[in-house]
Amino acid sequence: MPTRTRAEQMYARARRSVAGGVSSDARRAAGTPMFVDHASGAELWDVDGNRLIDYVLGQGPNILGHAAPAVVKAVSEQVARGVAYAAQHEWEAEVAERICAMVPGAELVRFNTVGSEAVHGALRLARGLTGRPKIVKFEGNYHGWLDPVLYSVHPDLALAGQASQPNAVPGSAGLTPHSAADLIVLPYNDLGLVRDCFERFSGQIAAVICEPLLCNTGAIMPVPGFLEGLRELCTAQGALLVFDEIITGFRLAAGGAQEFFGVTPDLATFGKAIAGGMPVSAIAGREEVMAAIADGRVAHAGTFNSQPVAMAAAAAVLSILDERREAVYPAMHQAGQALMAGIRAAGERHGVPVLVSGPGSVFQVYLTEKSDVRDYRDFAACDRPRMARLHELLLERGVNTVPRGLWFLSTAHSPAQVDETLGAVDAAFAAL
Ligand SMILES: Cc1ncc(COP(=O)(O)O)c(C=O)c1O
Repeated sequence: MPTRTRAEQMYARARRSVAGGVSSDARRAAGTPMFVDHASGAELWDVDGNRLIDYVLGQGPNILGHAAPAVVKAVSEQVARGVAYAAQHEWEAEVAERICAMVPGAELVRFNTVGSEAVHGALRLARGLTGRPKIVKFEGNYHGWLDPVLYSVHPDLALAGQASQPNAVPGSAGLTPHSAADLIVLPYNDLGLVRDCFERFSGQIAAVICEPLLCNTGAIMPVPGFLEGLRELCTAQGALLVFDEIITGFRLAAGGAQEFFGVTPDLATFGKAIAGGMPVSAIAGREEVMAAIADGRVAHAGTFNSQPVAMAAAAAVLSILDERREAVYPAMHQAGQALMAGIRAAGERHGVPVLVSGPGSVFQVYLTEKSDVRDYRDFAACDRPRMARLHELLLERGVNTVPRGLWFLSTAHSPAQVDETLGAVDAAFAAL
C-alpha cells in the first residue's frame, strides 16, 4: 500500500484555508485527494514520491502528455514576452486559422478561458440569433458548472422522474430561480423523443446541445442515426445544433467528434486538449451564426480571452495534431484499444462482469452485466460503488484513472506503459 503521509498533512493544511481543501468539486475524494509533486509524459509523481501512470491527464487536456516539450518551449518563450495583454497578438489568428482548417464546422472562432464560459457563450449566441428561449439538453451530459446548464448531470434517480420524460434536477443549491424554465431535459440517444419535443415546442427551441460522444457518463457512443437525426431536425426546425466538444475536440480526430462521426453542427465548443494543458476554450461555428458575435449583437468578453501564453501553447499543440494526424490519432486509438482488450480479458479471467466501450483515445470501464450502455439510466444501473473501488485498487497499484471509470490516452503513452498498466489491472481485478 503506497504511503500518503505527506498528502494527508497537506490536505489537513489546505482545509484550514481552502474551502473543502480543494478548488474544484471534481477533485473531492472519498479520503485524501491527490497532491501532485510533478508530472512528465504519461506519468506523474505525488508528493509522497509514488509514481503513477496517468490516464486522467488533468481531466483530458494533456493530449501530448504532461510537460510536453513543445508546450514547455512555446510557453517559456511567450512568458518572457508578456503574459497578459488584453489586446490582439499574432497567436490569435494563427490558432483560429488552424481550428478553421481542422474542424469541419468552424468558419469563425472566438476564444475564452474555460469550457463553461464557451458553452455559456454558445447558448447565448443561439438564443440571440434565433430569438427563441428554449434549449434542449440530454440527461447525463455535462456542459459546465454555470446556472443555465447545471441540471440532470448525474441526478438522484428518486428525483429524476420517468426515463422518457426526465425532470430537470438542479446540480447545486443556489441556482438562479427558474433557470430551468427554458431548459428541456431528454434522454440521450432517443431521437423519437427529440422529434416529439420539437412538435410540442414548435418555434421555441433555440438549440439542441449535446456531447457527441457522451464522456461525462461513461463513454457512450451515439447510436447510429442519432447525431444525423439531430442535425436534420435542427435544420428543419430552424434551431442550432451545438456539439459540446470540450472533451472530444482534437481528441477523437483532428477535426473532433464532428469529423469522427461525420456530422457537422452549427456551433461547437472546445477546451481541454486544445492547448495541451493550458487554459483555452473556444466557440467555433458557421460564419452566419458567429456573425451575431462578430457584429456585437451578442455580447462576448473576458479579460483573459486569448491570453498569449496559453495561445502560444495552443498554436504548438494544434500544429502537431494537425500536421502529424496520420500518426498521432491511430497510435492513440490503438493504445487505448489494447488497454480495452486487456481489461476485458482480465475481467473474464477473474469472473468480473465488465463492459469497456469508447473509441480508444478515451474509453470507459463499467462494471455491469449489461452488454450496452446507451444513456444515463443504464450508467446509473452499473455497480458504481465497485467501480469506485476499482479506481482505488488501481491507484494503489500505480495507475491513475478518472474515479468514475473514464480513461484518457495521450501521445506519450508507450507500449511498455500499456503493458505495465495491464499488469496492474490484472492485480486489481484479482483483489476486487
Ligand atoms: C463536455 C464538457 N463541457 C463543458 C465542461 C466545462 O469545462 P470547464 O471545466 O473547463 O469549465 C466540461 C468539463 O469537464 C466538459 O466535460
